Formats: sequence, structure tokens, C-alpha cells
Amino acid sequence: MNAAIPPLPVVILISGRGSNLQSIIDAVADDALPVEIRAVISNRPAADGLQRAARAGITTAVIDHARYADRAAFDQALQECIERFQPGLVVLAGFMRILTAGFVHHYQGRMLNIHPSLLPEFPGLNTHQRVLECGCKQHGASIHFVTEAVDGGPVVLQARIPVYQQDTVTTLAARVLQQEHRLYPLAIRWFAEQRLKLDDTGNAVLDGERLSDPVILTQESRAPC
Ligand code: GRF
Repeated sequence: MNAAIPPLPVVILISGRGSNLQSIIDAVADDALPVEIRAVISNRPAADGLQRAARAGITTAVIDHARYADRAAFDQALQECIERFQPGLVVLAGFMRILTAGFVHHYQGRMLNIHPSLLPEFPGLNTHQRVLECGCKQHGASIHFVTEAVDGGPVVLQARIPVYQQDTVTTLAARVLQQEHRLYPLAIRWFAEQRLKLDDTGNAVLDGERLSDPVILTQESRAPC
């Protein structure tokens, strides 16, 4: 850990289970992630991830999308809530809302998302089902900077897994999720250590090199430094 860089203030947005949130909480607890999780915000009051955050002593908030007339009003309330915590990075961890352009622009270059597919393949929902239907031999998960295009921003890091003939949505989702839990703490660490950024031309840059392709975390490999 670089003692010269203070922990990065982070706000994490969730909608449900929060297993990716948990992987981030655990990495911070293990001293493997130089961030301070200032708050976890959910758009669903019943999201299980809120309990995970509370158990870890993290401040939680709910901005219930059902209480707002439209996306713009919800996003404005969400942004106001986030701003109270002054994050250097907003982490979407299973946050199941499409965000307005204004919101995305406000956090341009400082908002990451995780998606359960090998982007740019299979943006959107039901990725595991769609991978099985197309007969793909490979599947995986991606971390990307958030831009206006849904699941369309520059991809930073991916993990790939083979798709087996006997796979079901359940088995595939479980194996992808294991990879997700490796990917997110690593990408957040790169950002917190100021190794990862989005440049002025909208490209992801790692250690000063423009990423024309995402870094691939293989199944066997230990996480790279
Ligand atoms: C993950 O598969 C993530 O990639 C997707 O939604 C799911 C959230 O799972 N965006 P969890 O809430 O982190 O357990």
C-alpha cells in the first residue's frame, strides 16, 4: 500500500444482494484496498446489501426510485445524496438503474460499473441466458468506466470463463460472480492508486498506457499488482 496517497473516498450504489459490495468491504478490511467507503446508497429499500453495509459499520442511505416522478428527478436526488459524501469515485455494484446524461457527465471519469458479460458483447440484462442461447464458448465479467451508452464505456478489466455444455443460467451466473469478486477490488485499487484514469479523449489509461484492450485477469493467475 502506498502510504503517501490518502485513502480514496468512495460511494457505492447498489440495488440488491450486494455480493460485489461485500467483496469490496472485505478487501478494505484486509487492508488490500486504499479506500474509505463513505456510504452505500440503494434505490431499493429492501436491498440485502444495505444490511451488509450496516454490519460493516458503513453509513447507508435509500433513494427510492419509486418515489420520484421521472429519471431526472431521481438522479438529481441521488446526486445530492452522493455529494454529501464528497467521493472521489462512485462505484456501481449491481445498481440496476439507467442513469441520465447529466448524472453521467457529472461523474465522468470517476464512476465505474461491473457487468456480467465480456463487453462489448451482451450489454443489458439476462446476460447468462443470452450467452447460453447463442452457444458461446466463453463468458465472463467486465469493469468499465461509465459513459452515456448503457454498458458501453471503455472496458478496463475482464475475467473470462469457459462455458460448459452442461451449464445452466445458475451455474454460469455463479462462476461469473466468483470472477466479479476478484475484478472489482482490483480495478478500484488501480483507480485509488491513481494508476487508472479516463483521459480527455475518453480512453481508459493504466500506468500511463492507453488501454486499447482491457486487461484480462485469467482464472488461474493471482491478481496482478
Ligand atoms: C452482478 O452480476 C453485477 O455484475 C450485475 O448485477 C449483479 C449484482 O450482484 N450488474 P450483487 O448485488 O453484487 O451480488
